[in-house]
Amino acid sequence: MKLNLFLAVALALCVACGFLIRPQPSRPNVEFLPEMVRTAAYKAYSANPNFLDGKTLQAPPPDTIPRGFHPVDYEATETGAIRAGEELSNPYTFEDLAAFTRGAFVFRTWCVPCHGGAGRGDGTVAMRGFPAPPPLTSEKTLTLKDGQMFHILTYGQKNMPSYASQVSEDDRWKAILYVRSLQRSAQATQAPAPQPPLTPSPSGQEVRK
Ligand code: HEC
Repeated sequence: MKLNLFLAVALALCVACGFLIRPQPSRPNVEFLPEMVRTAAYKAYSANPNFLDGKTLQAPPPDTIPRGFHPVDYEATETGAIRAGEELSNPYTFEDLAAFTRGAFVFRTWCVPCHGGAGRGDGTVAMRGFPAPPPLTSEKTLTLKDGQMFHILTYGQKNMPSYASQVSEDDRWKAILYVRSLQRSAQATQAPAPQPPLTPSPSGQEVRK
């Protein structure tokens, strides 16, 4: 009898609660722990009372590096670039089609605006007044080692800004692979046209047909 009474009261309570928190389109529903439903969001540059320095954007703790980031141990100088050229090599080769395709994508996204589609230094930005880069197919660029190019993409060089924050380390190597392919195809088209074989003339001298 007592148990039945208890169950009846419990049931009545459940029904009452269900009625109280029923969804009503005309007004907002009951929220349990509203702070968890709607967290107080701070904008990156807004003041923030939760931190000692009152800022939202916190500097990373000293001596830490972001996950996936690999520090490049070279000074942003020409000597640093030369040392990078001697010590670093591209982990990707032309056999790796996925890397090559990605490199083409990276180049078209980040480099074409200045360097142009074929690397001739005739990108839109260069055509509109930005100091035009030298053709990536020039003799000088051909002699740059992969590591030197990596240094240029990482730290910039004269008028070319650093692309370290936009293009990941991995993507930088892939873009370099693509630059090499542009150089190769430019060299292939510049090569002297193949000559026909020499045949002896009636006078005994060899002439070209
Ligand atoms: C804002 C325009 C701009 C963008 C974008 C740009 N570059 Fe450059 N780049 C330059 C300029 C200008 C130079 C010439 C710098 C100098 O005078 O030494 C240069 C130089 C270079 C060189 C060295 C050429 C040499 O012979 O010294 C390489 C390699 C290079 N860029 C590759 C790239 C790659 C790869 C990208 C894309 C990730 C890229 N650049 C994006 C403007 C740009």
